[in-house]
Amino acid sequence: MKLVRPDSDPVREKFAQARKELSAALIEREDEVDLVLTALVANEHVLLVGPPGCGKSLLLDSVLSWTGGTKFSILLTKFTTVEELLGPVSLTALKVDKYLRVTTGKLPEADYSFIDEAFKGSSAILNVMLKILNERVYDVGDGVARKVPLKLCLAASNEWASPDTGKELSALSDRFLLRKSVSPIRSQAGRQRLLWTRDHAPKLSTMVSPTEVEEARRAALILPWSSEAKEALETILKELAKEGVQPGDRRQFKTVGVARAFAYLCGADEVLPEHLEVAQHCLWDSPDGDQPQKAAQVIARVANPVGMRVTQLLLEAEQVLVAADVRNLADAAKAAAKLAEIDRQMSSLKGNGRVEKARLYLKEQLKKLKLASIEAV
Ligand SMILES: Nc1ncnc2c1ncn2[C@@H]1O[C@H](COP(=O)(O)OP(=O)(O)OP(=O)(O)O)[C@@H](O)[C@H]1O
Ligand SMILES: [Mg+2]
Repeated sequence: MKLVRPDSDPVREKFAQARKELSAALIEREDEVDLVLTALVANEHVLLVGPPGCGKSLLLDSVLSWTGGTKFSILLTKFTTVEELLGPVSLTALKVDKYLRVTTGKLPEADYSFIDEAFKGSSAILNVMLKILNERVYDVGDGVARKVPLKLCLAASNEWASPDTGKELSALSDRFLLRKSVSPIRSQAGRQRLLWTRDHAPKLSTMVSPTEVEEARRAALILPWSSEAKEALETILKELAKEGVQPGDRRQFKTVGVARAFAYLCGADEVLPEHLEVAQHCLWDSPDGDQPQKAAQVIARVANPVGMRVTQLLLEAEQVLVAADVRNLADAAKAAAKLAEIDRQMSSLKGNGRVEKARLYLKEQLKKLKLASIEAV
């Protein structure tokens, strides 16, 4: 992934700034930040699935607080009524035999929405959402399809919908082009930051208006694809099919636009293979059968995106750190050598803000490891 470089495009600069500020405040959430901002540029809905308390709401609320425009947030339960989503039936209209709703402040008038516990709603709610998310229209019950201004729906859930949980949930899950599992914080340093930082809420120095988001969308839409990236995407789809992962045609086609949005976010002038990193969140149909992991592996192998390599190497480093016994000098030395090797591999990756941050982290861990083993003897 490319470093966001200074840009003469003020909207792109705003996105770069927000990306930096969100990633700085949220611990180990760089990928999720990138995903949500990409979704905003691409005008595609995004779903984050993860255990309670892993920062999903904090991120999604923060992004919504950054965008201007009309917003609507709701936490769904099985008792949530259609009125809470669409607004109450208009009594004035009923008096003249018309069935309308007062939609002020509700989903039909929102540019951006956040649906928490997205799969918890009743059948009626899920059906309303399906239509709004997919066709961007709603029907108050009079058979007339009314257009909604919705550009982006952010959603969160504690678990994935699966065929076992019913067709409606699977259908709703499919409406989110971008879907990602969110893991709890992995690193020791991340956990320390979580524990000892008083306030994790990002401080955002800018705001973005719907007009500016539209400007970003249009700018991203015209970014060309390099021939290498085109070839890589075609190879990825072939390789995925061999692994039994066959995302539908709509997902495949929409991935082209999502990669453009990500390239825009990265400050690039064209889509390069490394921007296919984001495709790991689109190019699978069901979370079953390790499809998301397979998509990530194939993309990492074919397109070799720097961001994915950094994540992989940091995971390896964490495993080394967890397994190291600092009281045993030979063991500590072996761990230090492994960390140095990981750093060497990291240094061969192309310049990128995330590479530098990861290398700094490795350096700190190496220092701590050496100090701890000296103290232990
Ligand atoms: N990665 C993180 N970075 C910073 N703060 C975090 C992170 N994960 C959790 N927190 C802290 O935990 C709090 C709870 O997180 P949040 O409410 O966003 O979780 P959630 O994933 O939405 O949980 P739920 O599924 O229960 O709704 C945050 O407000 C924040 O203080
Ligand atoms: Mg939440």
